[in-house]
Amino acid sequence: MTDKEAALLLQHARAVRRRAYAPYSKFRVGAALLASDGTIYTGANIENSSYGLTVCAERVALQTAVAAGRRRFRGLVVVANGPKLVGPCGACRQVLAEFAPDLEIVLARPRGPGKRRRLRDLLPEAFSGAFLRR
Ligand code: THU
Repeated sequence: MTDKEAALLLQHARAVRRRAYAPYSKFRVGAALLASDGTIYTGANIENSSYGLTVCAERVALQTAVAAGRRRFRGLVVVANGPKLVGPCGACRQVLAEFAPDLEIVLARPRGPGKRRRLRDLLPEAFSGAFLRR
């Protein structure tokens, strides 16, 4: 993903983060995912009073994109506010790896610089469909 694309995704992730439904944790997360055709899909975390049913911003974005027919992705930006830059949780890493094992991911805050990572480095030796072949 180019710097220009990352900057555009960052704007989208920051904007959608404001729509997070996070009354329990108060921890808002926004995600913007760039499909290979250039379309941007966004997601925010959606919590539930039955806490385990909460869905992370990254999975909302990915699942929205897949439901829209996209399966190839070039980049993801995740925005959260806290003492450390937030990367996708373990479950989201696995779900993202299904479609984009080498995805570029930018971790960022509502303001200031972020850092770039590769999903392959965040989830080494990931389980995949290849393990299911007999
Ligand atoms: N959360 C995300 O949406 N993405 C992450 O990468 C980490 C965690 C959400 C889930 C929950 O609503 C809140 O942040 C606190 O865990």
